[in-house]
Amino acid sequence: MTLYDGFRPAVVVVGASRGIGRAIAKVAAREGSVVVLVARSPEDLDAAAADVRQAGGEAFTLALDLLSTDASARLQDFLTSNGLICDVLVNSAGYGLRGAATLIPAGDQLGIVDLNIRALTDLTLRFLPGMAARGRGGVLNLGSIAGFAPGPNMALYYASKAFVRSFSAALHQELRSTGVTVTCVAPGPVSTEFLEKSGAGRATLFKVLPKLDADRVAESAWRGFKSGRRLVVPGISAKLVAFLAALLPSAVTLPLVGRLQRRSGDPCPCGSGKTFKECCRIRPRGAIAGDR
Ligand SMILES: NC(=O)c1ccc[n+]([C@@H]2O[C@H](COP(=O)([O-])OP(=O)(O)OC[C@H]3O[C@@H](n4cnc5c(N)ncnc54)[C@H](OP(=O)(O)O)[C@@H]3O)[C@@H](O)[C@H]2O)c1
Repeated sequence: MTLYDGFRPAVVVVGASRGIGRAIAKVAAREGSVVVLVARSPEDLDAAAADVRQAGGEAFTLALDLLSTDASARLQDFLTSNGLICDVLVNSAGYGLRGAATLIPAGDQLGIVDLNIRALTDLTLRFLPGMAARGRGGVLNLGSIAGFAPGPNMALYYASKAFVRSFSAALHQELRSTGVTVTCVAPGPVSTEFLEKSGAGRATLFKVLPKLDADRVAESAWRGFKSGRRLVVPGISAKLVAFLAALLPSAVTLPLVGRLQRRSGDPCPCGSGKTFKECCRIRPRGAIAGDR
C-alpha cells in the first residue's frame, strides 16, 4: 500500500480560471505537479489548463459553482474518478462588494459569506483530515490585508477575510510538526478583475496603494507555503498596512478605513438617495435615520 493508496497527489486550485488562482496554478505546475483547476467558466479554465501544461504540469479542469451546497462532494467525486487525491488545496475563489451594508442587497452580501467563508471551510474540512493522516501537503488560503481591520463600506468582504486569517492561523497551529502546512496569503491590491468587479478599485484606499501583479503574489504565496509559513503578506506597502492595522486602535482605523473605502459621490448609508456629504455628515449629532 502506498502513501496515497494508489491515487496520484494533486494540487487543487479553486478559483483557478483567472487572477491569483490561475497564477498560483502556473507556479505549482513548474514542479511537474498534477493540477486540478476549478471555477465556473469552462473557456477560462481551458486557457488556464494550457498555461499549466506549458509550465510543465498535468492539468485537469472541473467547471463547478462553489456556491452549490454539494460542490465539495462533487469535487471529491471528480478527484476519485480520475485517480487523484487532494495533496494541496489552494482556496482562491472569492469576491467582494464595495458600498454600505444597508444599501447592497442582502443576498449579494450573503453570497460573500457563502463563497469566501462557507465554501472555503467546507473544502478545507473535507481535504485536511486526509492530509493530516498522511502527514503531507497542506492548504493555501487567500486572505487579504482587508482581514487586518474591520472595513466600513466593504464590511462583509473585510469580515470574511478576517475569518480566513483567523481560521488559517488556528489550523496552522493545530497542525504544527505534523508535516502539514496551512498558510494564509494576505495581499494588498492585485491587478485582477476582482478590483473592477468588487468596486474596490474605485475606492481611495485601493487607488493610493500600489498594485502588485498576480504572478508576483503567486510566487511569494507558493514560496511561503512551501517553507511552512503561517502568514504571507506580499509587498512592502501591504506589510506596512498590516502592521499599522495591528498597532492602531479601532477608534482610529474604523473612521480612517471607512473614509478610504468611500469615494466622493457615494450614496449615504441611510438610504436617503443623497450623497454622504449632503446627508449624514452634516446631520446634527444624535439625529436618527428617517428623522429628516
Ligand atoms: N485582486 C485583489 O486586489 C485581491 C487582494 C487581496 C485578496 N484577494 C483575494 O484573492 C482571491 C482571488 O482574487 P482574484 O483577484 O484572483 O479575483 P478574480 O480575478 O476575480 O478571480 C476569482 C476567481 O474565483 C472564481 N470564482 C468566483 N466565484 C466562483 C464560484 N461561485 N464558484 C467557483 N469559482 C468562482 C472565478 O472564476 P469564475 O468566475 O470562472 O467562476 C475566478 O477564477 C480572492 O479570494 C480575493 O478576495 C484579491
